[in-house]
Amino acid sequence: MRALRMSYIVASVAGVLFFVLSVTLLGVWPARVLQEQSRNMAPENPLGLTRSEMRGRAIYAREGCAYCHTQQVRFTEADMKRFGAPTLAWETRLDYPHLWGTRRIGPDLSRQYQTHPADWHFAHLYSPRSVVADSVMPTYRALFNGAPDQPTQEARDLVSYLDSLGRARELAGPEGEARARKGCNCPDDEMPQMAFHSAVINANAGKARREGPTPALPGNGDIVRGRELYQHNCASCHGPRGHGDGAAGSLRPLPADLSEHQYSPARLSFVLENGVAGTAMPAWRDWSLDDRAAVAAALRELSVGQPEPGIPPATLELGARVYRDNCAQCHGMNGGGDGSAVPELRIVPANLQGVRPTLAQSIRVLRNGIEGTQMAVWTGRLSEAELSAVAYYVRGFYQGEPR
Ligand code: HEC
Ligand code: HEC
Ligand code: HEC
Repeated sequence: MRALRMSYIVASVAGVLFFVLSVTLLGVWPARVLQEQSRNMAPENPLGLTRSEMRGRAIYAREGCAYCHTQQVRFTEADMKRFGAPTLAWETRLDYPHLWGTRRIGPDLSRQYQTHPADWHFAHLYSPRSVVADSVMPTYRALFNGAPDQPTQEARDLVSYLDSLGRARELAGPEGEARARKGCNCPDDEMPQMAFHSAVINANAGKARREGPTPALPGNGDIVRGRELYQHNCASCHGPRGHGDGAAGSLRPLPADLSEHQYSPARLSFVLENGVAGTAMPAWRDWSLDDRAAVAAALRELSVGQPEPGIPPATLELGARVYRDNCAQCHGMNGGGDGSAVPELRIVPANLQGVRPTLAQSIRVLRNGIEGTQMAVWTGRLSEAELSAVAYYVRGFYQGEPR
């Protein structure tokens, strides 16, 4: 009887001890290690969220975005190639409750920082298929007053939250990476070592860049494949025939009218590698060079050739003078889009050596400007003669293949 009673006591004490041990080993200890790691590896003053971003975070949780999107880049080659550097513990240490998610029906969002401009996000939330054909993401019309360019404060908060994801890590820069590497103190641990390559912090394949290497495209792209790629990936914005009249009419600047322009091979390879930074035009870096060459061939087909008008030398002279006085500070002396004002501009001026608008388009742009960019309206500031002279003149910078 007594032994039996003793065994109850032994079992309960052992039970309690086991409980304490497992809480310590599985809960308290790892939390300690993680806390210390976060403290050592975080940048000295990591950027927090603004009020608007915090509200956006609550909306993200409320709308269930985390059911389809993760916020954790894993330590795998495939993840890093697509999204960027693997997530470190400190990046989400203030997230409570966390929004890591467990399923990827859509892509990971933890490296969204500066990957898409706000107009893209608004068009996408209002109607994902207006910018991404075949998207299965639901529409979030309740966040808008009836149109994608009429976002409510909630939509603005949500988008500013999306644009904050990955920001602290990216802004910490190479110094931040060096500090994390030192804080980790794990030279032999292969997994965390993968995370410390400042070059891949935001390697998101869709992120538009101002500069970047431009691989030469193979000359003869497969036109049939190109047409197919175009209809699936580009037509939602640029329209089925390239007139810039796809479903995404709320974007500023509007998608380019591909039929009214000629693009040099060098310009096309630049645009497909880097997108157009500051606009909704994404980069297509994750495509093979053959696919890019194929879509480039399809683009050439969309552009309508027009007979070149003969221009009297006096007009060209007037055009050159007007250009030097009014346009060169942005578009550069030789039209390369590299004038002295470029660092101040959110969107780089058109590189007229690689893009030739038709005469009609050139005049239209000078009359109307390009909404959403610094390209202003010139009617009223230039006389009609000056305007048409400079519209002629800028077409002469083009250095693509003749057609
Ligand atoms: C039913 C699943 C689903 C839900 C819920 C969902 N998404 Fe998506 N999301 C997707 C899919 C699929 C894609 C990829 C296709 C596309 O870009 O539309 C995507 C793409 C995105 C992208 C583009 C990412 C990139 O880099 O290309 C963003 C940003 C985004 N979603 C934000 C949100 C937000 C914010 C919410 C909540 C308001 C949300 N999603 C809810 C499925 C979903
Ligand atoms: C989300 C909408 C969107 C999608 C999808 C899109 N574009 Fe664009 N694209 C734009 C916008 C907006 C511009 C205008 C940028 C500007 O005015 O500089 C643009 C500009 C361009 C230009 C002109 C660049 C220049 O130097 O002026 C080319 C060429 C182009 N896109 C090709 C493509 C191709 C090819 C695809 C598909 C693989 C594609 N676009 C998909 C929105 C899009
Ligand atoms: C403040 C800087 C600035 C000045 C000054 C400026 N531009 Fe522009 N220009 C831009 C920007 C920015 C774009 C848009 C690039 C884009 O959409 O990607 C542009 C685009 C253009 C385009 C391309 C249109 C198209 O359809 O692709 C032409 C042509 C052009 N500008 C001509 C001129 C002429 C001519 C002048 C002088 C009268 C001038 N620009 C002055 C910044 C400037």
